[in-house]
Amino acid sequence: MGNCVGATWLPLEDDGVHDPLAPGVRLLQQPAEALGRLTPDSAGNYVRWVEALDKGEIKPREALRSKAAPRFRDDDILLNLKGGMPIVRFPHRAHTLWLDCSNCHDHLFKAVAGANKLSMFAILQGEQCGVCHGAVSFPLTECTRCHSVARSAVNGKPAQAAQGGALVPAAK
Ligand code: HEC
Ligand code: HEC
Ligand code: HEC
Repeated sequence: MGNCVGATWLPLEDDGVHDPLAPGVRLLQQPAEALGRLTPDSAGNYVRWVEALDKGEIKPREALRSKAAPRFRDDDILLNLKGGMPIVRFPHRAHTLWLDCSNCHDHLFKAVAGANKLSMFAILQGEQCGVCHGAVSFPLTECTRCHSVARSAVNGKPAQAAQGGALVPAAK
């Protein structure tokens, strides 16, 4: 699978971004070489980033200069409790592994479960989750990556055990 999805990364000289005549193009590492070693995904930039990080395939720097300790949070929040699609599980862990709280709080989301009026329409317009998903993180066509929890699982207790994290259902 790795090889077959890897074939879709364009060489730098053909990507429409780099000047094919500039000498730098021959010095830079090609995307297929850099990304083809990481856990593959079937969409976006073809890397399953959270898995790649968990497996130690990549070790991003925590900061360029600051020595402040990184801040983590690992609770899950369930969103979309009333809709027709499967429930959306927002995992703080998968986000705070890369992103400081200030990327989202409070200018994108108030840090209170259920306090934000989220909508798929706004997300598709590039707001809320769509500020990143569809831009730098997996694309919005991957519905089930967000709408990942069956409604039937949340009416009883099983979801809590199945998700393995503290669940904070967003009261709507
Ligand atoms: C990045 C995460 C994400 C992705 C990907 C995503 N959604 Fe959503 N979706 C949400 C969130 C968050 C809400 C709003 C939940 C709420 O009402 O609190 C939502 C709400 C919805 C709603 C309205 C509520 C409902 O369940 O009826 C629909 C319909 C919907 N999404 C369909 C889709 C479809 C279809 C796709 C794939 C094409 C998709 N979504 C992909 C996060 C996502
Ligand atoms: C990628 C965006 C993002 C990042 C980064 C993020 N959060 Fe959140 N946070 C959310 C969303 C979305 C909610 C759910 C809001 C809702 O239910 O309407 C939330 C909810 C919360 C809540 C209220 C629910 C709860 O769990 O008690 C707190 C507190 C919170 N965040 C703290 C933090 C802290 C502290 C950090 C950094 C360590 C952080 N968040 C990083 C998006 C983020
Ligand atoms: C500030 C940027 C940002 C925002 C806003 C954001 N995300 Fe993410 N999200 C990321 C990044 C970066 C990753 C990790 C890279 C990837 O999987 O593409 C990620 C990963 C995820 C994952 C996958 C976790 C895994 O284990 O693979 C889910 C699910 C997710 N986000 C849902 C959401 C939902 C729902 C919202 C809105 C409530 C949201 N995100 C808002 C940046 C963001």
